[in-house]
Amino acid sequence: MNISSNFADINEAKTNFTDLYTSNDPRNYFKYLGQLDYIIPHLAQPIFSQLIKARQERQDQPVTVLDVGCSYAINGALMKYAVDYEALRQRYTAPSMQSLTSAEVLDLDRHFYQAWPKVPGVKVIGLDVSKNAVRYAQDCGILDHGLAIDLESRDPTAEEAEILSGVDIIVSTGCVGYVTAKTFRRIAQVARNGRAPWAANFVLRMFPFDDIAATLDGQGLVTERYEGATFVQRRFADRGEMEKAIRAVEMRGLDTDGHETEGLYHSELFVSRPAEEVARRPIQGLVTVVSGANKLWLVGANVLGSYGQAVRKSARQVGLIPPGGPARRQIATPR
Ligand SMILES: C[S@@+](CC[C@H](N)C(=O)[O-])C[C@H]1O[C@@H](n2cnc3c(N)ncnc32)[C@H](O)[C@@H]1O
Repeated sequence: MNISSNFADINEAKTNFTDLYTSNDPRNYFKYLGQLDYIIPHLAQPIFSQLIKARQERQDQPVTVLDVGCSYAINGALMKYAVDYEALRQRYTAPSMQSLTSAEVLDLDRHFYQAWPKVPGVKVIGLDVSKNAVRYAQDCGILDHGLAIDLESRDPTAEEAEILSGVDIIVSTGCVGYVTAKTFRRIAQVARNGRAPWAANFVLRMFPFDDIAATLDGQGLVTERYEGATFVQRRFADRGEMEKAIRAVEMRGLDTDGHETEGLYHSELFVSRPAEEVARRPIQGLVTVVSGANKLWLVGANVLGSYGQAVRKSARQVGLIPPGGPARRQIATPR
């Protein structure tokens, strides 16, 4: 069995969220993933920031990051602006945002991102199969370049290769599994520009990274796994998803006790760099994980609230309730 069908098999375990990645704006992303405490961009933010700083020390030019499977470029927003994940979640799940059209959200977002001070010396390219997500992320200004392409199925065109040639760091959260070694080979082959790119991937423990690491090795990059920390991606959607995920992780020979058994998907961090860079500064000395510095949110309990008016309307359409609304209850007046 090749790695692609392998990943497809393992993916069967995961709830399919395709619809929320194809909306015209990120409200559904935050509504549904927020409900499951999707947190990996939040946990990846300080790690990406440390890698960007380390790369800035090695070159004079701005650092160009390629986010593979960028979706609405939430990682990009966290890299480029002084915003945090919780602020974005609150923005896109705010009741007052729910009645707006996508065009209105986009218009507000252009101003929103422009109004934040930019982290200096960082450019972000986003790559995703979702045209709508990439268009949004580019139109609102987060992405310097958006590539709505599928490198699982074809090589980049000359124009796309030119954009990818400037990449200094390839990153991903929650995307390995959807993408395989094919995508990474096609990116690494063109992302050179006189200096080898680095890669930092947060990968669910149910997916093996071996084939991607071997592919990157073929492009001169040595992969290290960050030891001593795992990174929660989100809660399982239901018991069925949990059972399948635990089986998949255990089948890889990993102990799920204290990790997936707690009801949470866990990711590992893989960082790939040229051998001399790894020898100069191994990953354990380059990346520091500070536990507890980033405040977690309370789960957005009101996910269903935005449907309230529609549900009320359809309840009235079934005919049991008079069109003018339910009769007011008579309150007995005490004698
Ligand atoms: C779980 S989401 C992660 C989104 C984002 N990285 C984050 O953490 O917020 C997975 C993303 O992978 C994208 N994806 C799926 N297949 C892909 C492919 N072949 N190439 C690029 N992106 C892909 C989906 O459209 C989706 O946006």
